[in-house]
Amino acid sequence: MSSIVIIGLQWGDEGKGKIVDSLTQRSDAVVRFQGGHNAGHTITVDGKQHILHLLPSGVLHEKVVCLIANGVVVSPRALLHEVQELTETGIDIRSRLYLSAACPLVLECHRLLDEAREAYSGTRAIGTTANGIGPAYEDKIARRALRVADLSDKTNFKSRLKSLFEYHNFILKHYYRYRTADFQEEYDFIKDHRDEILPWLSIIPEQLRRLRDQAANILFEGAQGVLLDVDHGTYPYVTSSNTIAGNVTCGTGIPLQAIDCVLGVAKAYVTRVGNGPFPTELHDEVGKHLSVQGHETGATTGRARRCGWFDAVALRQSIQINGVSNLCLTKIDVLTGLDSLRICVRYANHDNPFNNPLADYQPEYIELPGWTQSIRGVRSYEDLPTAAQRYVEQIEAIIGIPIDIISTGPGREENIVRSFLF
Ligand code: GDP
Ligand code: IMO
Ligand code: MG
Repeated sequence: MSSIVIIGLQWGDEGKGKIVDSLTQRSDAVVRFQGGHNAGHTITVDGKQHILHLLPSGVLHEKVVCLIANGVVVSPRALLHEVQELTETGIDIRSRLYLSAACPLVLECHRLLDEAREAYSGTRAIGTTANGIGPAYEDKIARRALRVADLSDKTNFKSRLKSLFEYHNFILKHYYRYRTADFQEEYDFIKDHRDEILPWLSIIPEQLRRLRDQAANILFEGAQGVLLDVDHGTYPYVTSSNTIAGNVTCGTGIPLQAIDCVLGVAKAYVTRVGNGPFPTELHDEVGKHLSVQGHETGATTGRARRCGWFDAVALRQSIQINGVSNLCLTKIDVLTGLDSLRICVRYANHDNPFNNPLADYQPEYIELPGWTQSIRGVRSYEDLPTAAQRYVEQIEAIIGIPIDIISTGPGREENIVRSFLF
């Protein structure tokens, strides 16, 4: 029995979904514990791409139980759409999906608020996914959210939804001078579809306890990345949830001591979608290489991801905050063909990365030789060219922990596994 938390150590899109899917081969259950459908996790199996937003990335494995725990904000529309899409590809999730009764709902009023605020903020916009995630978390903290459990309250649901829409529509109309959310349309959608959702309703802490009693291997799948954490990231250019490993206990009800290992996933370079500081960002041919070879386009919004050199300063901070015990480095194959490679080892003018979004961080680099031969799909460390091995070993030396998994392609099997976690 093992419980592993998997989190992204940069600004999201590190390849968490692919790694969760790979590790699910040895797991019984996969659990989402924060975020919402702002996430976009791409999994490639036998050359076919699947993009997941709300459903845990283990879902493609037939017998695996999938849990969406209380820390996740859930859009009924996004959830049903994703389940439907999977059903159409022949994957039936309905009988093995468990949804926490305590998940706050993401509704149309939240989506419009997100849009309106971004438009109003002009040059100071965060560059959100415009899915309503921030406003939904605000409602949770303000204790006015409607939650999954409320879907079954046929007496009060309608009036509660109506007052929530009235409250937010007032702001939309009078403060943002934006269009308002249609209560009736939202109510009708939920009324027509709630019976599809209610069978999934579950008390997740109890479910987890049962799984642990059965000695199950459980994966807790983080969304976004540490640098997008609302407390520890590049505030205010962050998401609205805690993305760090510690949030697994709040987001699921699993006790702290039940966690055996924290697996951090980092890309072999860095990307960021949306606005905010990015010290190692590149605007040159190398940046273009990373963007094109890495197919760095957002899975949720289709926006181009900003690309830059590997940042060991930020990574070290992420590792410390999360108590990362094991590390996975992804997309090393994308570096093939670059003459030389850089790793940021300090900032000339700051000790602590990113505590000031307005600061001009000046990265200092070490330089390493590149390689030319393709390493796509390589599965043995010895088959990597010496320069690629040096790159990996240099990162290990700087951050002080070994890299256990090296991902060499988007496919499920395209990994070098140097030590097994289960
Ligand atoms: P996530 O949000 O962390 O799950 O990452 P995304 O799925 O948003 O973005 C990662 C992208 O890189 C996806 O398109 C993956 O299929 C792809 N990918 C993952 N690992 C590798 C790898 O090792 N090499 C290459 N070339 N692509 C990868
Ligand atoms: P995965 O799980 C990358 C970014 C947005 C924006 C900021 C706030 O695929 O790694 P939000 O809609 O959450 O209020 O947007 O966070 N963001 C992500 N960036 N990957 C993600 O998820 C992201 N989810 C949110 O681009 O900068
Ligand atoms: Mg993603």
